[in-house]
Amino acid sequence: MCGIVGYIGKQRALPIILDGLKALEYRGYDSAGVAVVGKHGKGFQVRFAKAPGRISVLEGKLGDGTDFEGNVGIAHTRWATHGEPNEVNAHPHHDCKNNIFLAHNGIIENYKDLKSELLEKGHVFCSETDTETLVHLIEDMRDSDPNSTFEEVVMKALRRVRGTYGLAILDRREPEKIVAVRNFSPLLLGVGDGEYIIGSDASAVLKYTRQIVYLNDGEIAVLTPSRHHIFTLENQTVMRAPQEIDWTIEQAERGNYPHFMAKEIFEQPESIENSLRGRLVPEEGLAKLGGLESVEKDLRKAKRLIIAACGTAYYAGMVGKYMLEEYAGIPTEVDLASEFRYRKPVFREGDIFLAISQSGETADTLAALREAKQKGVLTLGIVNAVGSTIARETDAGVYQHIGPEIGVASTKAFTSQLTILALLTLFLGRQREMSITIGRRIAEELKQLPILVGRVLAGHQNIQTIVKKYSAHRNFLYLGRKYNFPVALEGALKLKEISYVHAEGCSAGEMKHGPIALIDETFPSIFLAPSDSVYEKVSSNIQEIKARRGPVIAIGTEGNGDLKRFTNDVIYIPKTLEMLTPMLSVVPLQLFAYYAALIKGCDVDKPRNLAKSVTVE
Ligand code: G6P
Repeated sequence: MCGIVGYIGKQRALPIILDGLKALEYRGYDSAGVAVVGKHGKGFQVRFAKAPGRISVLEGKLGDGTDFEGNVGIAHTRWATHGEPNEVNAHPHHDCKNNIFLAHNGIIENYKDLKSELLEKGHVFCSETDTETLVHLIEDMRDSDPNSTFEEVVMKALRRVRGTYGLAILDRREPEKIVAVRNFSPLLLGVGDGEYIIGSDASAVLKYTRQIVYLNDGEIAVLTPSRHHIFTLENQTVMRAPQEIDWTIEQAERGNYPHFMAKEIFEQPESIENSLRGRLVPEEGLAKLGGLESVEKDLRKAKRLIIAACGTAYYAGMVGKYMLEEYAGIPTEVDLASEFRYRKPVFREGDIFLAISQSGETADTLAALREAKQKGVLTLGIVNAVGSTIARETDAGVYQHIGPEIGVASTKAFTSQLTILALLTLFLGRQREMSITIGRRIAEELKQLPILVGRVLAGHQNIQTIVKKYSAHRNFLYLGRKYNFPVALEGALKLKEISYVHAEGCSAGEMKHGPIALIDETFPSIFLAPSDSVYEKVSSNIQEIKARRGPVIAIGTEGNGDLKRFTNDVIYIPKTLEMLTPMLSVVPLQLFAYYAALIKGCDVDKPRNLAKSVTVE
């Protein structure tokens, strides 16, 4: 995801902000840029450079850096959201007269309205980004209010903005000042001796200082080389002493989690929120998916959806089938991309192809997409990596907006893919027979999900205790029905991927057709047993396993005390709509796999023989 760095002090800003950018590389990015204020001739000027691709490409453009002299600078690594990852869309963005420069993390939700207003007033935009709107808005307000300070103008502009932002902003006319703002996008100040370094996370500043002041949401910091002043957007002064941090850079990147996988599991409330942001209209029971606007008419006429994906993304697609058929009334097929590309798929008029891929680069998914395109089918994508091949080659799509997933075993990408599939169900359903009442219900429940996932995560210690109890077992069977059948498959996949313990996922309805032969007291089963429309069937299957002395761990809904009577262990999840239970029920299974791998001392983030992105067949 995007990264921000800023420097103000006595040293040359350029090497320090470049160091900061390099420290943020682990977050993933697709372009980068710097802007430095310095004295050139008689007055101050801002010199800036931006480049798509790696930071080394940007460094190539900077040459020996002599053009970029100055003690104040801001820099950015961009993970594209609005507009391609190219030079003009990279940050920092600037106003019409190259006075104000701004680096932004987050999304300006109402940028379209603001942009048309500013265009009418004659502002000239060069990029397709939401961010550029903000810099022109600040310019506009500064021009109409020359007596206010820079920070006052910034605050005034932000009052008109809806969205999330971490910001570092400078103005050539006040060359010894940087304004930093945080609103639902992390930002902190590294405090040095007569200098400050701004970072969107601590890794950007740790090389230079360990004294950190964290900004809270809704706070603005005004920095000069000698002092900082923090106040709220309502103009209340904030006094906050720096904290000394004792982490290493590696730890800072992982946010103090021992593994990226743990970080990614625990950040799911936030990543789901990011996938939902700006896309729900709860009062109208609608989903707003900007990336599908251009094909809205085709989608209205769609008669069938064909999903192709690999690994975890395929299991997300399987859950999507249940959602789309039950609530949008669209026949949906799900295929392993590796199978789809080699069989002879039959397409009909009204078919829509949907590729799901976190990386956007999986070779089989890409080949399946190309096959569908070649047959003239309209293609969509649910992709996390902006500007990836699948994102570029699909006709339209929805980005996940969850930042990079680094742990090889996919976790937050799965719950985000389910979130988007639920939004797609709402979108397509409301184009069809779905009533506003059902639409509202789904939207309301979706809004609650980040909180509910947080509640499941809060029970992590209980899960760890259960894992310890079963740590000697070498085989596990995962069972579920309907929406939770794909979750059983995903749970088993997680366990084998990172702990190398044999696990099989199976539909609970199929259990009697073979897998039950494996069961004895040494072979535990993990049942997905939420209180939903198939609960009675699942509880009968549990009894059948118990009758063969098989140990049972159940994932059940809070309030179902009954389960405790006929299972060995229960992990509870909160109640939600049946179609959304997979987003809650998968979380204990992710944690189960994670803790099991820890006990075995496995390399959780880089399991043997596996790759994060499988770009060959
Ligand atoms: C690899 C990864 C999995 C992922 C799958 C599909 O096998 O290890 O975690 O689910 O590829 O990847 P994609 O990027 O297309 O979602």
